Amino acid sequence: MRKKIVAGNWKMNLNYDEAILLADSVSNLVKENQKTNVILAPPSVYLNEIAILIRDNPMISVAAQNCSDKISGAFTGEISAAMLSSIDVSHVIIGHSERRKYFNESNSLLAEKIRVVLENNLLPIYCCGETIEERNSKKHFEIIAEQIKTGLFHLDDSKMKTCTIAYEPVWAIGTGVNATAEQAQEMHLYIRNLIKEKYGAETAKEISILYGGSVTSQNASELFSCPDVDGGLVGGASLKAEEFFSIIQTMEKRISS
Ligand code: PGA
Repeated sequence: MRKKIVAGNWKMNLNYDEAILLADSVSNLVKENQKTNVILAPPSVYLNEIAILIRDNPMISVAAQNCSDKISGAFTGEISAAMLSSIDVSHVIIGHSERRKYFNESNSLLAEKIRVVLENNLLPIYCCGETIEERNSKKHFEIIAEQIKTGLFHLDDSKMKTCTIAYEPVWAIGTGVNATAEQAQEMHLYIRNLIKEKYGAETAKEISILYGGSVTSQNASELFSCPDVDGGLVGGASLKAEEFFSIIQTMEKRISS
């Protein structure tokens, strides 16, 4: 069975003390016999310390929110995949819509980042999602297909299998308006079918596809009940340990039902 994942994207939030406290609180709540894979994506300046802090908890991994497409050298302010790989970071979020929008990250640049991440034995969480204008003009499937094909379909089958995808409609991120379970399931199935066409049914079945965009403990149950929704990439609701844990518990219930 493919992995069920609840990931917390802290974005550019929390000072040092708050970040350590949050990681520690989540780590105390998440027990070793849990089946949900939990991923914390703190700001990069806290990654190493949080990776060390959660090292003994096998159910929690640490993700960077971004990395450079460059290998090394004169790129002031950038963080390379090799650097992330040299500390206990296992995953990297690539192509979040905020990076696409504010930092002009294109599908082809993201393809390069995916390549560099995998070369450094890190696991990508590749984000895709359409804007409200694109959905209203019925271009959402086309947009997602382009993001998935250009970003990921340069990979061979074995590398593709190591990727996690997050479908995050831009209109649902930070707005309090989540996609309905029907909208999420429809797009997740569409993405899985794209993978199936290119890589075959076995690979398509193995890849976890997360939903992101205003996930809370209130709507997680409905969203996670969809057959092709394998978890969530949670922003705002991951900043409070109890709320985030309640979303993790929702996934635990689904797994054991
Ligand atoms: P949100 O963010 O849960 O605050 O909507 C999700 C994300 O951007 O990953």
